[in-house]
Amino acid sequence: MSFLLAQGMTGGYGSVDILHDCTIAVEKGEIAVIVGPNGAGKSTAMKAVFGMLNIHTGNVFLDGEDITKLSPQDRVAKGMAFVPQTNNVFPSMSVEQNLEMGAFLRRDDINKTIEEVYSLFPILGDKRKQNAGELSGGQRQQVAVGRALMTQPKLLMLDEPTAGVSPIVMDELFDLIIDIARTGLSILMVEQNARQALNIADKGYVLVQGRNRFTDTGQALMNDPEVRKSFLGG
Ligand SMILES: Nc1ncnc2c1ncn2[C@@H]1O[C@H](COP(=O)(O)OP(=O)(O)OP(=O)(O)O)[C@@H](O)[C@H]1O
Ligand SMILES: [Mg+2]
Repeated sequence: MSFLLAQGMTGGYGSVDILHDCTIAVEKGEIAVIVGPNGAGKSTAMKAVFGMLNIHTGNVFLDGEDITKLSPQDRVAKGMAFVPQTNNVFPSMSVEQNLEMGAFLRRDDINKTIEEVYSLFPILGDKRKQNAGELSGGQRQQVAVGRALMTQPKLLMLDEPTAGVSPIVMDELFDLIIDIARTGLSILMVEQNARQALNIADKGYVLVQGRNRFTDTGQALMNDPEVRKSFLGG
C-alpha cells in the first residue's frame, strides 16, 4: 500500500458533492502533484485528505493505518502537515512565533527543529524577529512551509505554495521542495504552475470536476498530447 492512500473519496460541502470517487496516493519520499482547472476540487481534495471535510465514501490510509475518522489534529499527530492555500501564516506574529505555533502539539524541545528550518530557509533566520505580515510573498510561503515542518511530519501537503510569487521565487521554492523530499518526506502539492510542477513531480494527478482525469508520472503527463493541449497550454 502507498504511504498515503486516499481512496475513492466522494464528498463535499453540505449536501453537494464536489469530489467523485477521487483517489490520490503518494509513496515515501515522493513528490505528487495535483493539477487541474480552477474549481476542479483540488483544494477540496487536500482538505478531505487532511480531515477538514467529511467524505461519505472512501478511506484515507497513512502508513497502512486507516485514519478516515480522525480529526485534523489527530492526523497531525500521525505525521501529516498541511499548508492551506490562503491565510497560512499569522501576520501579526513574528517569524519565530509562527514557527513556535506550528509546534503546539509537541511537548519536547523544539529549538533544534527551529534551527533546521532556518538552515533550510536562511532568510527566515535573518528575519526571525520580524512580523510575518511584513515579509514578501515568497518569504511568507517559506514561513508557512517552515511552520508545517515544525511538527516533523512524514507527509507535507502544500496547496499552491507558489501562488503569487515571481518565476524566480517559484523556482527557488520548487528547489526547496525537492530538498525536503530528499530528506525522506512525502510531498503532496496542488499547483497552478502545472508544467513546472509536473517537471519535478514523481507522480501527477489531473483532476477535473472532482474526478481523476489523468494519473501518471510527471514526465508521462507532460508528454501526453491531450494533457498538454487541455491543461498545459499546448
Ligand atoms: N467552503 C465551501 N463551501 C461550499 N462550496 C465550496 C467551498 N469551498 C469550495 N467550494 C466549491 O467547491 C468547488 C471546488 O473548489 P476548490 O476550492 O476545491 O477548487 P480548486 O480546484 O482548489 O480551485 P482553484 O484552482 O481556484 O484553487 C467549487 O465549485 C467551489 O465553489
Ligand atoms: Mg484551490
